Amino acid sequence: MTQQDVLALRDLHASDEGGIRHILDTSEYVHFHFDLDQLSRLVERYPAVGAFSVPAGPLGRVAGGTLQAFLLINWLAPPSAWLGGFGVTWSQGERFEEYLDPLLELVIRRVATHGAESLYYSGGDIDNDWLGDSLAKRGFTLTSLLRSYDKSDFAIPSEGNIQMQVRPFTPDDVPGVLAVEQACFAPLWQRDAADILDVAETYPYFVVAEDERGIVGYQFNTVDAVTGYLVRIAVHPRAWGTGVGTRLMAEAVRYFQQRRVWKIVLNTEEENYRAHALYEWFGFQLIEPRGFVLGRDMSSDEPRP
Ligand SMILES: CC(C)(COP(=O)(O)OP(=O)(O)OC[C@H]1O[C@@H](n2cnc3c(N)ncnc32)[C@H](O)[C@@H]1OP(=O)(O)O)[C@@H](O)C(=O)NCCC(=O)NCCS
Repeated sequence: MTQQDVLALRDLHASDEGGIRHILDTSEYVHFHFDLDQLSRLVERYPAVGAFSVPAGPLGRVAGGTLQAFLLINWLAPPSAWLGGFGVTWSQGERFEEYLDPLLELVIRRVATHGAESLYYSGGDIDNDWLGDSLAKRGFTLTSLLRSYDKSDFAIPSEGNIQMQVRPFTPDDVPGVLAVEQACFAPLWQRDAADILDVAETYPYFVVAEDERGIVGYQFNTVDAVTGYLVRIAVHPRAWGTGVGTRLMAEAVRYFQQRRVWKIVLNTEEENYRAHALYEWFGFQLIEPRGFVLGRDMSSDEPRP
């Protein structure tokens, strides 16, 4: 960016993917919480904004400018939205807060028009997070501490409830899965019907547990080359303590064994003692660093055009 350039803000589209990838590939001033294969889908589906350096004068209007910084949302299910990615070019990195301020303001306006009232950010290390520290100066406060666990064997202490039918998710299961979701999770973690269908399309493993009254639980996972990610397990409170969670965990461990991962990882909230007991019984070990969630309540923000 030269001294004659002006900074222009605008919404990003799938055609901006190259600029975003360039920043992700070449700068250290990046934070992102999504699978790179999903980038264009995210930019199409959720608000994403960018700051461009544009040469002053008519040339700039023709050339359109160069992306210097981006901020994007990777999950929006009103009343919650999540910041999924921020990046600034290497050369502008030290000035990242000058980009963060206008981009944050713009993205907040965009998510508010979609009905979001709270904006969240999650980081992997509470003691070392440059973006989290900056967001904390911008109205974000600690919402939740997270625990990470991993397990590098495939031992299963119990098969759990073997009467329960566990089968692959189908789109007809959306209402049942949503009912479990709403009974189990605070609004910031809840997904909507579109998210659930998205999970079914993009995650390689998604099962539901069913009894004669309908869906009582669900569980989905993903994998990369050597790591299995146990993304979510939930059982409706009406069936807690009947071995459904254990059954879903046992099925998950077997799935990861078939996929030949080297380790299985998961995150949970610091105060989710019931989940800790289940994971630790399955041989998961608590690992450092501690993750965290920051949140900013936007419901009292002044509306802006
Ligand atoms: C966590 C959760 C999935 C557990 O599901 P569940 O169906 O109640 O699980 P189970 O019936 O198989 O019970 C797990 C049992 O393993 C038990 N367990 C743990 N260690 C054990 C041990 N050493 N020996 C025997 N049982 C043990 C647990 O304490 C629990 O038994 P309890 O009912 O006597 O307390 C469920 O509580 C839930 O959905 N919570 C809300 C959503 C959530 O927090 N998900 C996890 C974060 S993503």
